[in-house]
This record gives sequence, C-alpha cells and structure tokens, in this order.
Amino acid sequence: MSEIIGIGLLGLGNVGSGLVELISTNREHIQDRADVNFKILHAVVKDLNKVRQSNGIELSTTPDKLLAEDDVKIVVELLGGVDPAFEWVSKSLKSGKHVVTANKSLIAEYGDELLKIAADNNVRLLYEASVGGGIPLIRTIQDGLIANEIESVTGIVNGTTNYILTKMEEENLGYAEALKLAQAAGFAEPDPTLDVNGADVAQKLSILCRLAFSTHYDSTKIPCQGVDILTQDDISVAEEFGYRIKMIAHAEILNGGHDLWVEPALIPSDHPLANVRNENNALLVYGNAVGELMFYGKGAGRLPTASAVLSDVIEIAIASPLHTDMVERKRIGISELRSSNFYVRLPILDKPGVIGKITTVLGEHQISISHASAAIRKNGDSGFGQVRIITHAVDPAKLNLALKEIKGFPEMSGEPVALRILEVNGDRRN
Ligand code: HSE
Repeated sequence: MSEIIGIGLLGLGNVGSGLVELISTNREHIQDRADVNFKILHAVVKDLNKVRQSNGIELSTTPDKLLAEDDVKIVVELLGGVDPAFEWVSKSLKSGKHVVTANKSLIAEYGDELLKIAADNNVRLLYEASVGGGIPLIRTIQDGLIANEIESVTGIVNGTTNYILTKMEEENLGYAEALKLAQAAGFAEPDPTLDVNGADVAQKLSILCRLAFSTHYDSTKIPCQGVDILTQDDISVAEEFGYRIKMIAHAEILNGGHDLWVEPALIPSDHPLANVRNENNALLVYGNAVGELMFYGKGAGRLPTASAVLSDVIEIAIASPLHTDMVERKRIGISELRSSNFYVRLPILDKPGVIGKITTVLGEHQISISHASAAIRKNGDSGFGQVRIITHAVDPAKLNLALKEIKGFPEMSGEPVALRILEVNGDRRN
C-alpha cells in the first residue's frame, strides 16, 4: 500500500470540486497505474458559507494554516488571476511545497519568476491545465516533442469563444445568448470579457511560445482581436464563401522573428480546425522532425480541467524533475506579419459611388479582390448596409492603411472589420 500524499487546495470552485470528485472516483485506477494515493487535507476558500460539500476537508479563508501544515506536500492553486495567486503560490514554494496550477494569467505573466523560486527551493511548479483544458499539451510539447525544432503552433485554445461561435453558427443564437450558455456551463472565466476580447487566448499563446520557442512574449503585447467584433452576418457570409470563423492563436517562426497573432479567422470548412465544435480546443503543432501534429479535446470544463490538474499532481508524486522549464528565455521579436487573404466587412450608408470609392482605395493600395458582395437595406430615402469583400493575399499592414483611409469616408456607417483567412492547405511545407 502506497503512502498517502497530502494536498492543499487554494480555491474550491468548479475545478476544485471536480478534482475532489476525480480523486475519489479514480482512486483505485490511479493506485493501479501509478501506485500513489492522495488525500485533500485543507482548502482555502473565499466564503465558508458557499461550500456545499467539504468532504472532510478542513476549510479556511486565508492560506496561513495550510502553509504551516507539514503534511500538505502539494498545493493546487485554482484561484485564477494574479492577485492573490502570485503571493500565495510564492509562499507555498518558499515553504517547500510543490505547486500545481491551472492559472494561465499567473504562468503567462510570472512563469519565469515562479519557476525560479521553485528551483531555488527544490520543489516543482507544474501547469498542464493552463492551456487546452484536458488535452495534455504542455508536457507533450515540453517532453514528447523535445527532439524537434518547433516551427509553428496554430489552433483554438479558448472553449468559451468556440462554444459561442458554434452556437451562433449552428443554432443561430445571438452572441449574448450564446455567451450566457457558456457561462452557465462553467467554461467562461469569472470575468468573461477575458474570453471574448482574446486576453485569455493571448495568455495561452504566450505560454505555448515559452514551451515551443523558449521565448517570452508579454501576452498584452501580442496583436489581438476579440470575437466581440463579429456579427451573425459575418458568420453567414463566411459560410456562403465556404469558410467557418474560429478564434485562432497563431505563432510561427518567420524572418528571424515570430508571426504572432490572436484573432477570429476564416477557415475552409473542410479543414479539421473548422470542425472543432463547442468547448473543444485543437492545436496544430509543426515540428521539423515529426511534421504536423494535431491535438484535440475538451478545452474547458470541470472534469477535463481536473484531469489535467491531477495528472500534474501524480507527475510530482512519481517522477523526476523536468529540466526544460529552467532554460533561459530568448528575447526574440514579433516579425512583420505574413501576407494573407482577408475577409473585409465595411458598414456603409447607401450613397451614390460609395462602393466605387472603396474599391478605388483598395486598388490604389494594390489590394486585389477575389469576391465581393453587398447587402443594402432601404429606409425611405436613406439606406445602409454592408460591403463584404474577400481579398487575394495582402500584407496586413497595407490593408490596415487602406482601411484607415476608407474609415474616414463620410459614407461609412461604422468600423470596418478585417478577418484573416487561415492558410491551411494541408501541410503547406510539403
Ligand atoms: N475560460 C477558459 C476557456 C477556461 O473558455 O477556454 C479554460 O482555460
């Protein structure tokens, strides 16, 4: 019979209660497969009255008692956000406890600092659940693909926005209604703005970059566009043209830097990423030896996230340290962005010559159009509508300049929207 390892929880919400359930449901399987056994001894919660079932776990509202308990060997941080997570995780590591976290904000912003504290104190800090929910991405990139130069990572890493886009496309739900469903299902962040404005995706992309490229990008500096700019019309027009819109994170070695962005993009409807539905995530990783790999599965939710968290806890209990986390991060840079086809939506007033003025400006910037359509609604003497254009490959900087010029036209009725069409013709390196 294996020794029982004591766990302390910082946070006992959706994922915390999932972890309690998983340890209990799979106890025998875990013992059979890994010969380890766990007991959750202590949990720090915000409000003692809100805990429905404590399952014999001692509860408190500050971490002091948990940190003083010698029997707590592994601390699992499930608070989210940086404050107080940074302070409590640092204290845990400094008091000689291993830490497992699902917190992407914390790792994206303070990963290097915390890993150094962990190394200085001879303990480990693991974060498998921070990207891709239940998909074992972190250790796969860090360990399984260690023999490769990773050239690119591209994919869907936010369950909430993928769920919203799926519901908007398949059930014609409005954006707000779809977001409410994602919140009710427990996929969304406590502040769902972080999901829909792309900040959560940028943090995950920053973590993927540290693993894949040994570099560090401040997630707030990654070019980022949220799904909150999209309308039902964008989704329908994309479908008409043979595409689906997905929230994409992309990083690729390009011209001595990285082509790096987070945006809703158009994907050909027969591509595997286009068929990733609901809260599922998927990541394409290109390694110079292995070629292209695709990882797919539930990217958010109580038990999938608990599965990743518990895998870290078990890894700490059974294995020797991973060394790759302590390499020095290189400071590279974001390269000029790669040229791409774009879908452009331009809200206009129905004035004579407006479409001609738009196409003239695009022509002056050498932007060539491959498809165009317009939908105008008349309202008495006036009218308004949308021009929708698909461009041939264009430098994004050039397109931005043209759109800036067009934006100043008095015939425009709102902000132009430009979405990248992802270049995914199978494996384009072959
Ligand atoms: N809010 C996140 C998502 C949770 O929807 O993907 C998992 O990181």
